Amino acid sequence: MELSKKLETAINEQIQAELYSAYMYLSMSAYFEDIAMPGFAHWMREQTEEEMEHAMKFYHYVVERGGRVVLHSIQQPPVEFESVLDVAEKTYAHEQHVTSLIYKLYELALAEKDHATAVFLQWYINEQVEEEDNTRTILEQVQRMGQNPQALLMFDRHLGERGD
Ligand code: FEO
Repeated sequence: MELSKKLETAINEQIQAELYSAYMYLSMSAYFEDIAMPGFAHWMREQTEEEMEHAMKFYHYVVERGGRVVLHSIQQPPVEFESVLDVAEKTYAHEQHVTSLIYKLYELALAEKDHATAVFLQWYINEQVEEEDNTRTILEQVQRMGQNPQALLMFDRHLGERGD
């Protein structure tokens, strides 16, 4: 059973959304480099790589199911941010948004009676639990630090030392 046109189109749009996430996180990484927060920049580069992996996993899935990958243009991400807190808030909100996109895809797979795609999407559903948990934790930690520059610098060093 080949992918339905509807699902193929929706997954291609999700590839675009994942690549946009990568683009946005890379822009956030560049912002952190600019304000001399290399640990936060490192965290955002890791996020970028994960988003590329999410996009490629969808890419291979479309190919495997006999579909056609169509790459759409990716909009420019924001360049400037107000603060570390601003980025942390936007990152968590973005992951919540991505979860809602994955849920919609899953609902479409069920509506199309494409059980293979529904099973495939379960990986993303679990991944989003982790993504939301990680970004929420960092947001809460940054919120607790307020605008204390000392605490933020220590946290920056901690993020830079993470080996993952
Ligand atoms: Fe691909 Fe961070 O969700």
